[in-house]
Amino acid sequence: MVQAGYVTDVVYGSAYTPSQAPIQLACAAMAAGVRAPDPRDAFNYLELCCGNGLTLCVLAACYPHARFHGVDFNGVHIAMARELAQRGGLDNVSFEHADLVDAHAIAARSLEFISVVGAFSWLDDARQQAVFARAASGLREDGLLHIHYASLPGAAQSDALHNALCLIAPAKGQSDHRLKAALATMADLVGTEAKFFSDNPVAARRLREAMANPAADEAHEIFSRGAGPRWFAQMYEMAAARGLTPVAEADTQAPIWAADTQAAEAIRNQTLRDIQLNRSARQDVYARAGVALAPQPSAFLESLRWYAHPRCRTQPTAYAARLSLSPSDAALFFSALAAGHGAREVECALGRPSAPVFLAAAHQGFIRPLVARTPVPAHPDPRLSAFNAYALELGLRQNSSIPLAATAVGTQIVLPLVDRLRLFVVCGGATDALLGPLDASSRALYEEALSESALAAFRDSALPELHQLGVLEVLG
Ligand SMILES: C[S@@+](CC[C@H](N)C(=O)[O-])C[C@H]1O[C@@H](n2cnc3c(N)ncnc32)[C@H](O)[C@@H]1O
Repeated sequence: MVQAGYVTDVVYGSAYTPSQAPIQLACAAMAAGVRAPDPRDAFNYLELCCGNGLTLCVLAACYPHARFHGVDFNGVHIAMARELAQRGGLDNVSFEHADLVDAHAIAARSLEFISVVGAFSWLDDARQQAVFARAASGLREDGLLHIHYASLPGAAQSDALHNALCLIAPAKGQSDHRLKAALATMADLVGTEAKFFSDNPVAARRLREAMANPAADEAHEIFSRGAGPRWFAQMYEMAAARGLTPVAEADTQAPIWAADTQAAEAIRNQTLRDIQLNRSARQDVYARAGVALAPQPSAFLESLRWYAHPRCRTQPTAYAARLSLSPSDAALFFSALAAGHGAREVECALGRPSAPVFLAAAHQGFIRPLVARTPVPAHPDPRLSAFNAYALELGLRQNSSIPLAATAVGTQIVLPLVDRLRLFVVCGGATDALLGPLDASSRALYEEALSESALAAFRDSALPELHQLGVLEVLG
């Protein structure tokens, strides 16, 4: 079943998308020299097509001083999102069951961030225009719009495959069943060795992936046709018609700066880059055309803390050449970040300006900006405070932009307390200090929850799921 061209009869299993984090969006804009809201201050964040709300709930848990609102027209997704928020005890996130064109009116210029991920290319033309129109009226003067979309030419091969699967799928039936039937027909009649697939290896890979895992998610991607993939130039035009301009990429943190006078150049450069990289998707950040330049982008960048990928922390010298650093400077750089130092301290350690190193490292995905690490607020439950303190000490962090101390708040959403304790133990935490103060009967309950067999079951079931969700990565 489809609504407004989009699959609604099967559930989409959303994952956490780190690039939607406000700090990531602000940092990308600031690094491009564009003024942006500082996510350490209060802000309002709207996600259109929010799915089951996982990303928004994690963000709401990690930015308790901000307000988040998600809109989706799939009632099951919205029910899942509301349940998640309730389980996490989050009172700064709300969800609305509506088509994005009918969503509640947004007060003019009241939003700092709008994000649309995994949905834009699957919307029809009118709804794509509506996304830009909402951003144009709803965003604050320096607000940012983030759109993830299927981009050309990279997405052309998979788009051709998706079109073919739509053509050969049975006309009726539940979307995931229709997809399985279409994939079976494709496998039986032509297989992955057909000339189209040998000529178009990306399509061949997509077909193999869909055959290996014909999940409901694939049905969303393949049967929701919408306007399809776009060239960067088309996105630029749509944005420009609403007084917006692309300024940076959220995922790679690369600047775009397409101010009016340089539009043609920006379009040419981005298009050549898309051809060179053959990416199938882009994540662009748009600001109001003519938005003021950041008065001191370097001051903003300097005030941030950074998360370094575990690989870079353990083998810093392997990444030296890609940062144009000597092996010893690369070791200095990553160990300074691991110690929680910011740009200023790194600059002192290197003895020269560090901004180019930070930007190159962020661009290549070696590091990510963190919300400034403020002391973890004491949780009313002393066991949780101890958990947070221990987590920070151990350097356990999310694989994205959020330290585990914040994630520990976030994991209330996906993990009940006993599972958080299990995680703590699996990560090497000693429970004496946590369980000691409890009375005998509650201690016995927790001890049972932490028995060898319970921990083994947790390792087998919950840990892989957490990794799959992208919520947790355990360093060390
Ligand atoms: C592929 S999912 C992505 C969900 C989430 N953003 C994520 O990245 O995990 C696309 C979502 O867009 C929603 N959607 C599609 N068209 C919509 C519309 N016109 N109005 C509101 N939601 C829509 C779908 O219901 C679905 O939940």
